[in-house]
Amino acid sequence: MAGHVLFAIFQLASTLVVLVQSQNQSRFISIDCGLVDQPSYTDETTSIYYTSDANIISTGISHSISSKHKTQTPKRQLWTVRSFPEGERNCYTLTAPQGSSRKFLVRAMFMYGNYDGENSLPKFDIYLGADWWDTLVFQNASEIVTKEIIYAASSDFVHVCLLNTNTGAPFISVLELRFLDYDVYLFSSLDLLARHDLGLLDGELVRFPDDAYDRIWTPYNTKDWKQINTSLPVDQGSTSSGLMNYPPSIVMRSAATPANAGNNMEFNFLPGYNASTLYAYMYFAEIQKLQENQTRQFDIFVNGGLLSADISPFYLRTIYYLAVKPEPWLNIWLNRTERSTLPPLCNAIEIYVEKNLSQTQTQETDVDAIMNIKSFYGIKRNWQGDPCTPQAYLWDGLNCSYDGSGTRRITSLNLSSGGLTRNIAPDIYNLKSIEYLDLSDNNLVGEVPSFLAQLQFLKVLDLEDNKLSGTIPSELIEKSKNGTLKLSFGGNPNLSM
Ligand SMILES: *[C@@H]1O[C@H](CO)[C@@H](O)[C@H](O)[C@H]1NC(C)=O
Ligand SMILES: *[C@@H]1O[C@H](CO)[C@@H](O)[C@H](O)[C@H]1NC(C)=O
Ligand SMILES: *[C@@H]1O[C@H](CO)[C@@H](O)[C@H](O)[C@H]1NC(C)=O
Ligand SMILES: *[C@@H]1O[C@H](CO)[C@@H](O)[C@H](O)[C@H]1NC(C)=O
Ligand SMILES: *[C@@H]1O[C@H](CO)[C@@H](O)[C@H](O)[C@H]1NC(C)=O
Ligand SMILES: *[C@@H]1O[C@H](CO)[C@@H](O)[C@H](O)[C@H]1NC(C)=O
Ligand SMILES: *[C@@H]1O[C@H](CO)[C@@H](O)[C@H](O)[C@H]1NC(C)=O
Ligand SMILES: *[C@@H]1O[C@H](CO)[C@@H](O)[C@H](O)[C@H]1NC(C)=O
Ligand SMILES: *[C@@H]1O[C@H](CO)[C@@H](O)[C@H](O)[C@H]1NC(C)=O
Ligand SMILES: *[C@@H]1O[C@H](CO)[C@@H](O)[C@H](O)[C@H]1NC(C)=O
Repeated sequence: MAGHVLFAIFQLASTLVVLVQSQNQSRFISIDCGLVDQPSYTDETTSIYYTSDANIISTGISHSISSKHKTQTPKRQLWTVRSFPEGERNCYTLTAPQGSSRKFLVRAMFMYGNYDGENSLPKFDIYLGADWWDTLVFQNASEIVTKEIIYAASSDFVHVCLLNTNTGAPFISVLELRFLDYDVYLFSSLDLLARHDLGLLDGELVRFPDDAYDRIWTPYNTKDWKQINTSLPVDQGSTSSGLMNYPPSIVMRSAATPANAGNNMEFNFLPGYNASTLYAYMYFAEIQKLQENQTRQFDIFVNGGLLSADISPFYLRTIYYLAVKPEPWLNIWLNRTERSTLPPLCNAIEIYVEKNLSQTQTQETDVDAIMNIKSFYGIKRNWQGDPCTPQAYLWDGLNCSYDGSGTRRITSLNLSSGGLTRNIAPDIYNLKSIEYLDLSDNNLVGEVPSFLAQLQFLKVLDLEDNKLSGTIPSELIEKSKNGTLKLSFGGNPNLSM
């Protein structure tokens, strides 16, 4: 497909009704990592509600950045970090609320701020589940590095993991998750390279609450362009099922146009590394009321090829064009056509690089079950990230089946000598692929539940040396007699057959 140009025009056919969406944060998870002095707060500028990570991660150490950097940094979320000097891999596991979409925007922010007083910039890797996302490097202690990706997940769990590559302790400042829907981002995983509101003045920024999805729009100005704007709202677009996630009206209400009306517009983008396929979303809306004798019409050329010809953006309505290019650079020209009396304009642009995420994950029902078992027994092992992937970081005491497809199943659970008290956890019943279960040498009490006999793949069940009582369910005895199950239960004085 090299050299192939995909393009598409999407425009809103039907409704001109501007839907009013209540801008609430029910679809956000916003975490201020390392926050200790309070459990949560609402950011004054953005009104985003941030919570501490103290209750969602059991590893790492919270730190404040140095007072020098703190006074220079208005963004409160950057004042604390969580660092991970211990352990090769540490993960945050975020869970989407039930019933929400599985299309996520995940954003992580990092500012070193000399939090450890060492004046030594670390370098480490960030992973999304089992997939490498990026290597984080810093130019200086006050540089804010932001990583953002939009992707369709295969489960409700999002694991963001930091890997120590022996070049300094990993740390993180902010972690944000937004649930998307009805969107223009049709592709499986798009790593953000740039998102610009071309009418924005230097030093300004647009995000929530102006952008209901909390995308962050920054300015992009050159001396060859000037900004124009309107005070009227631009239709954001909607489908029968809800709002489209076009740029918000405040972004579309302004645009860049050539400073010299006789010129065309050029936009260059070099990601700085050999990116794979680049995606450029260009958004247009006419924001000047044109006279009868006025026309604005232009062609879009991307990397020398025509993407679309004779474009005349609609008055106060958004359209977008998407260029998908295999080259690791973008050169975009908006050239006015001969019949145009006005120069081209462009309101906003987003550039993404396609990420090849394998998306291998443990089956969600198994993850749910093992998470519940972990909290039921208060298990303190280094159980982080996805239970079965990547294989190198399989949870201690677990084994999984690797069947070539993307989904992993938990096949073995060994909690022997784990200091377990309480009953046999009911969630074990939900580990439907389990073959080997060792609960020996704990302080388990109560009866042996009959659901264990319904785990159809269970071949080994070791209950020795506990404080179980009552009688063993007859189906288990039967299975052990006919050779389908290897059952051991000695060392439970109050347990009988
Ligand atoms: C927040 O938005 C969601 C979905 O958009 C909606 O279901 C919910 O009722 C809203 N909550 C409030 C308090 O407005
Ligand atoms: C830190 O690095 C960033 C990115 O290279 C740069 O924009 C900024 O000016 C630098 N700050 C200082 C204080 O050197
Ligand atoms: C809109 O344009 C006017 C006139 O050029 C300018 O004074 C004003 O600052 C602009 N407003 C915004 C929000 O950019
Ligand atoms: C990018 O690819 C080009 C050609 O394939 C190669 O010459 C160049 O060294 C590569 N650059 C990096 C940073 O990998
Ligand atoms: C368009 O019409 C207006 C008056 O209606 C006139 O002032 C203007 O010069 C015309 N512009 C062009 C490009 O013909
Ligand atoms: C677009 O305009 C630029 C500058 O005016 C010009 O150099 C370029 O050749 C034009 N592109 C095409 C394909 O006409
Ligand atoms: C994506 O990664 C998989 C596994 O690592 C590989 O088999 C596949 O060829 C890659 N696809 C692309 C487009 O790079
Ligand atoms: C996990 O299972 C595989 C294949 O069944 C086996 O080769 C491996 O030794 C097991 N690993 C552990 C830690 O039990
Ligand atoms: C199960 O865990 C115990 C305690 O960690 C260990 O001694 C035993 O070897 C493990 N069993 C298997 C089959 O790996
Ligand atoms: C062994 O007994 C169990 C429980 O009664 C039964 O479901 C299973 O089919 C039997 N298997 C064989 C090989 O007889």
